[in-house]
Amino acid sequence: MTAPALEAVTNLRRLALAAGHAAALRAAAQLGVADALGEEPASAAELARAINAEPGTLDRLLRALSSQGVFAAQDDGYAHTPVSRLLRTDTPRSLRDMVLWATEPWTWTVWPRLADAVRTGKGGFSEVHGKDFFTFLYEDAPESAEVFNRAMTQASRLSSDAIAEALDLNGDLTVVDVAGGHGDLVATVLERDPSLRGALFDLPGVLTDVDPRLRADGELGDRCRLVAGDCRESVPIEADVFILKNVLEWDDANTVAALRNVAASARPGGRVVVVENLVDGSPETGFTTAMDLLLLLNVDGRKHLRQSLLRLVREAGLTVTDVRPVGPYLHMIDSRVPDVPGITR
Ligand SMILES: C[S@@+](CC[C@H](N)C(=O)[O-])C[C@H]1O[C@@H](n2cnc3c(N)ncnc32)[C@H](O)[C@@H]1O
Repeated sequence: MTAPALEAVTNLRRLALAAGHAAALRAAAQLGVADALGEEPASAAELARAINAEPGTLDRLLRALSSQGVFAAQDDGYAHTPVSRLLRTDTPRSLRDMVLWATEPWTWTVWPRLADAVRTGKGGFSEVHGKDFFTFLYEDAPESAEVFNRAMTQASRLSSDAIAEALDLNGDLTVVDVAGGHGDLVATVLERDPSLRGALFDLPGVLTDVDPRLRADGELGDRCRLVAGDCRESVPIEADVFILKNVLEWDDANTVAALRNVAASARPGGRVVVVENLVDGSPETGFTTAMDLLLLLNVDGRKHLRQSLLRLVREAGLTVTDVRPVGPYLHMIDSRVPDVPGITR
């Protein structure tokens, strides 16, 4: 029997302990190591003093992270890399909250159920916790809910400009960001044209802390309504354009229900724009496929293939007019509500 190639052995061993690197990232984010490290390299002992940690164990943490390109181990200490800079809180495109969100305590409790979920096709979150994921988040893990909302905003900032540009909206239109989180995208869209009006729709717990630009005293407050509700039940806002970005990640029935509710509120010929990371054609398949599995476990949901998402958009009675990449890692599916309700052109 020939020995397996060393590369295969190394890859599999690294993947099997990938949770260790995820945990190391989380620890670094929690400890504020990236903020403590300036432009010059610093030793583990210097950094340990700054963040009040034990130098020997901090050195081990930094070695583990440096092995993955997060910080660089040099002769004169540890230095920043482009990756470790994203853990800083003062970086405009910081992803610190994204790292915390992906490694929140509840994530470590759901991963062991993956084999069962694959066997049964069900994530089982509601059965284990007695409530659905978002109810759990707001009732039982409010700090995690805050991290989630900040993480969504951080992720949105990477793409809002590109999406607003691709939407190319002008004139006397009303735009709704359905399940829009804290509203970075709708704010970016409204900023581009003073004649646009908007609404941010999300669960009540999310709208207590929206983007400052959208608050009543914010620069866009007089052009944007905040509407709380559950889009699987209704989206009671009459408008011309509805955007659903990283929202259609439930099971198929809830996804179609949300789209139908949007279509029911849209003006005839209204535009429904779905923005998603697709599993196929994504420049970051590693992230998207892992998120697909996490969505299975927390909301019985998924990240879609292009065809599976298009099928649901059409099943909701919408006419797909365009599909194209937008921003660094997303796709935009443009669709129209038929002029005559129920008739797909
Ligand atoms: C993955 S986040 C995306 C947020 C935002 N669209 C973005 O891209 O940054 C999903 C959003 O859906 C909201 N949400 C989840 N279930 C919802 C429901 N039933 N009705 C309305 N919003 C919901 C969450 O509160 C969250 O803001």
